[in-house]
Amino acid sequence: MSKVDRIQGVRGMNDVLPADEALWDRLESTVAATMRAYGYARIRTPIVEPTRLFVRGLGEVTDIVEKEMYSFVDSLNGDELSLRPENTAGVVRAALEHNLTYESPRRLWYAGPMFRHERPQKGRYRQFHQIGAEALGFAGPDVDAELIMLCRRLWDDLGLPQVRLEINSLGQADERAAHRQALISYLEGHRDLLDEDARRRLHSNPLRILDTKNPAMQEIAENAPRLAEFLGEASRAHFDGLTQRLRDLNQPYHVNHRLVRGLDYYNLTVFEWVADGLTLCGGGRYDPLVEMLGGRASPSCGFALGVERVLELLRQHDLVGEGASPDCYVVHQGDAAAHTAIQVAERLRDAGLDVVMHCGSGGFKSQFKRADASRAAFAIVLGDDEVAKGVAAVKSLRGGQDETGKGEQQSVALEDLADFVLGRLADEPADDANGGI
Ligand code: HAM
Repeated sequence: MSKVDRIQGVRGMNDVLPADEALWDRLESTVAATMRAYGYARIRTPIVEPTRLFVRGLGEVTDIVEKEMYSFVDSLNGDELSLRPENTAGVVRAALEHNLTYESPRRLWYAGPMFRHERPQKGRYRQFHQIGAEALGFAGPDVDAELIMLCRRLWDDLGLPQVRLEINSLGQADERAAHRQALISYLEGHRDLLDEDARRRLHSNPLRILDTKNPAMQEIAENAPRLAEFLGEASRAHFDGLTQRLRDLNQPYHVNHRLVRGLDYYNLTVFEWVADGLTLCGGGRYDPLVEMLGGRASPSCGFALGVERVLELLRQHDLVGEGASPDCYVVHQGDAAAHTAIQVAERLRDAGLDVVMHCGSGGFKSQFKRADASRAAFAIVLGDDEVAKGVAAVKSLRGGQDETGKGEQQSVALEDLADFVLGRLADEPADDANGGI
């Protein structure tokens, strides 16, 4: 008999298994609460967008657009489409399409998968998830500070220590052009010290040379002319407005003159949150983008965090928490009990309880094993005897709740069962029933 081969998932695209659910759930519920606290409303946009949205929005010569997009032609109508590599362009497209900013500025947030064809490694995947916020139609710098503080609150609420804030100003296009000229002249003057990569980028993307990891080039990068020296008065005032607010809020920051970000739509404020050498979150102001995508000029600012990276940090710091567990696990033996069990389980759920009912066959012993594994608070035990008497035996599966501890069993009339369980759960320490997060 020929054995059929097993189909593997796509490299760099991960399954999120139930064991990780508690962690995801913790992040998602914390984010939802934080976004609410700052007045951001959720938006859900498609995973597939027209390719030209990203080409125009992110910039044709960015790494993402040049080599990381999953692009394809729709074989039915010839449309050129891409899996979204990020969602700022998609959110702005949707906001324009539905006139979301017509009357007043809008605060929006999103969460979902993004796709980049990168070389998979720790913290870098081909399908990864972002949670992001976009404040559309706000000139800042107050909203820049608000977005930064929103992230800060999120790290605090998640219990993540030592996430470091780096900020910079990219100024405006003409200021960047003047800086670029000065930078090229400077680097040309040190041509003999540049590595091959840097020489290749000298005219196409000199700013990226400053990002070099090559130790031999650190000094050149460090002494290169800084964009800050080319900023005009308005750009400088914007940056000062941001840093003043951060100081007022006791938010430490580190000005990183080499922080340039990898997308073309940014101007003025850019920022990143970094922990353990990995960037958890990046963002900034993108005033030109709305106009670039066909809308009326509308200054805007936002950020996106990498979910997998934040979760990894939570794991490293042992901040996982426990997953939700059911209130009851219904075990049963015998034909009559099997029929009653399914009705009892429904009635318990009607009362708001989370119930797992044993399905299929199996003796009491193996059913109790599964009940224990489910981490349910109570086993509801039904044998034909109980059914004949109209009762169920309720057995506590978590120790330390009474003098007899684990193993204590009580016979309860079926009509009183839900109230009995609810009463017992109310007596438990609050964090036990829901996994303590
Ligand atoms: P980004 O810096 O390209 O910005 O991505 C934001 C975050 O997504 C990164 O800091 C990182 O945590 C995570 N990330 C990026 N690529 C990967 C990957 N291959 N695997 C795992 N995580 C990854 C943006 O996408 C902008 N749209 C952010 C923004 C919103 N700017 C303004 N508004």
